[in-house]
Amino acid sequence: MAEKHISAEEMQRQVAFSEKLKELNAAGREKKALVVTYGCQQNENDSERIRGILAASGYGFCEKPEEADIIIYNTCAVRENAELRVFGNLGALKLIKRKKPELVIGICGCMMQQKHIADQIKKKYKHVDILFGTHTLYTLPELIWQVVTQGQRSVHIIDSDGAIAEEIPIVRAEGVTAYISIMFGCNNFCSYCIVPYVRGRERSRDVEDILNEVRDVASKGYKEIMLLGQNVNSYGKDLQSGIDFSDLLNLVSEVDGIERIRFMTSHPKDFSDKLIDVIAENKKVCRQMHLPVQAGSNAVLEKMNRRYTRESYLEKIKKLRARVPDVTLTTDIIVGFPTETQSDFEETLSLIKEVRYDSIYSFIYSKRVGTPAAEMDFVMDEAQIHANFDRLLEAQNQISREINESYVGKEYDVIIEGKSKTDENILTGRTEGGKLVHITGDASLIGQTVRVYIASAMTWYLKGELKK
Ligand code: 5AD
Ligand code: SF4
Repeated sequence: MAEKHISAEEMQRQVAFSEKLKELNAAGREKKALVVTYGCQQNENDSERIRGILAASGYGFCEKPEEADIIIYNTCAVRENAELRVFGNLGALKLIKRKKPELVIGICGCMMQQKHIADQIKKKYKHVDILFGTHTLYTLPELIWQVVTQGQRSVHIIDSDGAIAEEIPIVRAEGVTAYISIMFGCNNFCSYCIVPYVRGRERSRDVEDILNEVRDVASKGYKEIMLLGQNVNSYGKDLQSGIDFSDLLNLVSEVDGIERIRFMTSHPKDFSDKLIDVIAENKKVCRQMHLPVQAGSNAVLEKMNRRYTRESYLEKIKKLRARVPDVTLTTDIIVGFPTETQSDFEETLSLIKEVRYDSIYSFIYSKRVGTPAAEMDFVMDEAQIHANFDRLLEAQNQISREINESYVGKEYDVIIEGKSKTDENILTGRTEGGKLVHITGDASLIGQTVRVYIASAMTWYLKGELKK
């Protein structure tokens, strides 16, 4: 069997490259790095590790590409539009590199695990110096070293299921919430999805490694943690510890300093009664659930290989709400899956009206090379799919607004996360259920838990007043 972890020797070898880079970078003005992330929170978390490696290698950070000595694009392959943005932005870097030939440009992440894309970058984007995939992030120090000392392109992309690299340094986003990956990869092979091909099979991190990371972030003042995995409900199935996801939540909740625990993503087929009990009983586990349904029609769910039915999904929601009546519910929906007919879509619409989610993330189906759905013929044309997408959004906006209005006049505990991006005087925070709340208040409240009276509701957020 393949090793579960990258060896300590190999990790040490990479540390040595980081140290050599740090020495090299110490000469002259401070070298600056820019890491740009596309896609999901797992990718954000990977980018935090990339920043950790760059900081350990003597780089500071900047926000503008023109100021950077190294730029890394961490890419997403879930839908085509994210890929097109990467190609566009990468093309624009050519000009910057022409003016500043010593600029190092790296590209990594899920797009690199698709051979046709990596080949295209190698061939047509000669200004890219470093290519690495999702399984080889820990080798970044060596890859940068090769480029800066030998001036040659370095590529490290492998197709393995990826041994876990513990102990990669990290520079986390400042704030209230720390992201912690508890597992990598996915075994589900939903027929539209590229993730199992680009992130490999499911691998769970050891409980102690996760708990050590939780203790570490708690000691640094993070109050909330977000446990990440493509399918957190199968956490531990590949370990011998006998600890499942519900047990893990209870263990994490014992760490002092952590006030709220969130997690994503859950697969409805693995969503257990035991997990419902933990959400109902454990005070630190937020009464919030993101449970992607993808479609409301059994015919489509079957073609998607989701392995649950509309009825069994609704049954789980009913059970969850019976135990946790105030639970906040969100979901993902794909509109325009190839075999979807108009009446299939109407079933999705009726499902969201029946469940009444707090909000939904809806996506127009995007064909992914190599997945089974890419071979299926479309029933609907683009115009019809777009019209359905708009109808779905409109129906959901009304529901979200109505649900938000039911919060008005009540009080909630809100952890203040920061200032609003559009108005300096507004602070933003979240309720336990994850509802975004805007209040007027002093910046000294950032990071604190405050009692807030909800004065009015918008579609996307609530407006509140600080209780004295
Ligand atoms: N096209 C559109 N949306 C997709 N998703 C995954 N693959 C595709 C695709 N090929 C959506 C699913 C998933 C979310 C993260 O992205 O809804 O839950
Ligand atoms: Fe993709 Fe399905 Fe795995 Fe989610 S569960 S990552 S949609 S294959």
